[in-house]
Amino acid sequence: MNVANYHDVVLAIKEMRVRGAPAIGVAAAYGIALGAQGIKSRGKAEFFSQFEQILQAFSTSRPTAVNLFRAIGRMRKIAATGSTITEMKEILINEAKRIHQEEIEASRRLSQVGAELIKDGFTILTHCNAGPLATAGYGTALGVIKAAKEQGKGVNVIATETRPLLQGARLTTWELRQENIPVTLVTDSMAGYFMHQGKIDCVIVGADRIAANGDVVNKIGTYALAVLAKENNIPFYVAAPNSTIDFSVSSGDRVPIEERNPREVTHIQGIPIAPEGVKAANPAFDVTPHNYISTIITERGIIKEPYEKELKKIARG
Ligand code: MRU
Repeated sequence: MNVANYHDVVLAIKEMRVRGAPAIGVAAAYGIALGAQGIKSRGKAEFFSQFEQILQAFSTSRPTAVNLFRAIGRMRKIAATGSTITEMKEILINEAKRIHQEEIEASRRLSQVGAELIKDGFTILTHCNAGPLATAGYGTALGVIKAAKEQGKGVNVIATETRPLLQGARLTTWELRQENIPVTLVTDSMAGYFMHQGKIDCVIVGADRIAANGDVVNKIGTYALAVLAKENNIPFYVAAPNSTIDFSVSSGDRVPIEERNPREVTHIQGIPIAPEGVKAANPAFDVTPHNYISTIITERGIIKEPYEKELKKIARG
C-alpha cells in the first residue's frame, strides 16, 4: 500500500494493513511525522493546533495496543522542544526513526533473553502473529523462536490459525517458512487436543498491552490457551518489549478491548460463512489474568510472580 499522507497511515492502521502492537506504534510515529511535514502555518500556535488534530486522528485508529498511545505521547512531547516550525518537523522525523530503532533493538534483545527458556527439540505453540510483520523488527514471540533456532536448537512450531482474521494462518506460517522453521497449522479449537496429548512443550505469545499487575491483553483466544496450558502443566510465556507495559492501568480489565466489525466473523475474505443477517460478536482481544502466565519476557530480562513488584523493578532499569 502506498501512503500519500497521514490519513492513509491512519487508514492502514484501522484496516490492519499494519498491525501488531509494536508495528502500530512505529507506523503511527512515522505517520505523525509525515502529517507534520504537510502542515502549512506561519505561527507556532497554528502549527500545534493542526498537529493536535493529527495526533487525535491516530489516537482513534485502534484502541488496545498501548504502543500506539506511547508513540503519540512521545511525538507530542518532542514537538514541544523545537524552537522553530522547521526544527519541529525535523525533530519529529528523528523521533519516529528513534522509536523504530528502539523497537528493533528491544525485540532482538528480548528474543535472546527468551531463547534461554527454549530447549532443544521443543514444540512451541504460538497464537496470532508476533513476528517481524507485527513488530517492524525481529519479532517478539516469533523472535524468541527464531533466536532459539539461531542458537542451534531444533524447534517445531504449532501455529493456531487465529480466527477471525487468520493472522496465524496467513502471516505466522509464512514468516516461519522464511526462516526454515518447521510449522504445523491448526485451527484454534485444536490447541487443547494437542496439549492434552503432550505434544506441546510451551506456549509463547506476544502482547498488545500488559497492565501494572501483569495481566496480559492479547489477541482474542489467548486467554483460552493460557487456561488450557495451566490445566495441562505447560509453561505459558508472554514475550513483549517494555513499550507494551502500561503502568497507568492497574489490571487488564481496565484496558479498552477493540470491538471490530461482525462481518469479519460472518465472512472469510469476503465469502459469507453464516446465514445472512445472523448476529455475530467480534472482540479483537482478551485479558489473560497474570496467574496464568509463567513468565513475561522483556528486553530487560524475564519476569515472574509477583508481577506487580517485578514489573516495577524492570521499569526502573
Ligand atoms: O489485531 P492484531 O493483528 O493487531 O493483533 C496482534 C496481536 O494480538 C499480537 O499478538 C500482538 O500485537 C503482539 S505483536 C508482537
